[in-house]
Amino acid sequence: MEIADIVDLETVRACARLFTDVNNAPPWNDGWTEDRSVRRLTDIFSSPGSWGIAASSAQRLVAFLIGNIEAFYDGDHFCLREMVVATEAQRRGLGSRLLAEAERRLRAQGVSEVYLLTSRGNGTAEFYEKNGYAGWTTMTMMGKAIRADRGG
Ligand SMILES: CC(C)(COP(=O)(O)OP(=O)(O)OC[C@H]1O[C@@H](n2cnc3c(N)ncnc32)[C@H](O)[C@@H]1OP(=O)(O)O)[C@@H](O)C(=O)NCCC(=O)NCCS
Repeated sequence: MEIADIVDLETVRACARLFTDVNNAPPWNDGWTEDRSVRRLTDIFSSPGSWGIAASSAQRLVAFLIGNIEAFYDGDHFCLREMVVATEAQRRGLGSRLLAEAERRLRAQGVSEVYLLTSRGNGTAEFYEKNGYAGWTTMTMMGKAIRADRGG
């Protein structure tokens, strides 16, 4: 297994293909098109402070994570925007290994904290908890649907 920084658009496009496949499968069963996945990941990749790593096996991409290093009053924080492990490679420790490697590389760059959003009830929160993450008791995520057809 090789883990490398995500530095080129070719890798971002490969990540988008994996992102589409995995997020359209259980537990998410989303409706991503290749175009929307490419747009989401290229937007993240081209945004300020973008940083990510990808894991490959026999030159095939099997997992990646990407996000942004952001300035905060007490130093730099990393917002983990997307993380995906290929469906057939899940539950074998790869996600944990990739996350630990990201934390190691980010720490070496002076980043002090990693934060993220994820769903409850489909195993992803359990994954992050298993890796030492915890819900913030002093913060909450808020949102509002602002189109009538979305129930807003
Ligand atoms: C979530 C994800 C990144 C985890 O990667 P992974 O390589 O499968 O995870 P690991 O094998 O390192 O799992 C470590 C531990 O996390 C927990 N865990 C992982 N997936 C889980 C699941 N689906 N349900 C419950 N617990 C889970 C378990 O405790 C697991 O240890 P165990 O297998 O010994 O029980 C991966 O399953 C994935 O890409 N899922 C689809 C996309 C996604 O949800 N991405 C995250 C969005 S924020």
